[in-house]
Amino acid sequence: MLEVCDLSAAYGGPDVLSGVSLEVKAGETVAVLGANTAGKTTLLRAISGLVPKARGHIAFEGTALLGRPAHAIPDLGIGHVPEGRHVFPRMSTLDNLLMGAFCHRDARDLTERIERVFKLFPRVKERQTQMAGLMSGGEQQMISIGRALMGTPKLLLLDEPSHGLAPLVVDELHVAIGEINRQGVSVLLVEQNAMLALSVAHRGYVLEAGHVVLSGTSDELSADPGVRRAYLGI
Ligand SMILES: Nc1ncnc2c1ncn2[C@@H]1O[C@H](COP(=O)(O)OP(=O)(O)OP(=O)(O)O)[C@@H](O)[C@H]1O
Ligand SMILES: [Mg+2]
Repeated sequence: MLEVCDLSAAYGGPDVLSGVSLEVKAGETVAVLGANTAGKTTLLRAISGLVPKARGHIAFEGTALLGRPAHAIPDLGIGHVPEGRHVFPRMSTLDNLLMGAFCHRDARDLTERIERVFKLFPRVKERQTQMAGLMSGGEQQMISIGRALMGTPKLLLLDEPSHGLAPLVVDELHVAIGEINRQGVSVLLVEQNAMLALSVAHRGYVLEAGHVVLSGTSDELSADPGVRRAYLGI
């Protein structure tokens, strides 16, 4: 479904991604683990057309992505939940969701999409009229994921959804990510929280200083001594 081949990227200085290759097959949840500055966010941004100097090859369902403008990527079926959530703080929760579907004018269809998000995140439904900026960090993450789902993506890019959240909220998100995947959406999940990522993902890659240094099934990565030491604190 998504093929990243020999991807390199820079922001004007040295490469922050070098020769990265990875794949997400239809129906999979794939984790990308890596410490601070490993290049995780840059990888997702490159897929979404937000890194102008990306080189290599990225294909989604056979369509080459590099060189396409960022606004064309969601239409292909890729939803991006950015690092730091980025909800529209002065808009209501419901309006934030609607922003994720502003290209879709079929009102009936829209109601179904909203109901799907509400079912996944009942707390978002309860607080749909509240200004998004007044919601908790976990609730804002739910809004951000819900907003991406409003575009009915086939592939969801999730950038550190658990960052800065309490363990109970992280568990809730984890369940929701599993449910989203079961509903047929493939997921590329970037996380420093390896425990969360490997418990929800089928496979994973480890990114270090812009290079993929390891890949395997979640079971293989969880058992790897290097991963356990570096990312699981064991
Ligand atoms: N807009 C930018 N301009 C210049 N350098 C950048 C920019 N964004 C990221 N970088 C640099 O690229 C490298 C990779 O950053 P990136 O944000 O992709 O890492 P990350 O793995 O997502 O880190 P974190 O876990 O902290 O989110 C870092 O050295 C960072 O300083
Ligand atoms: Mg990041």
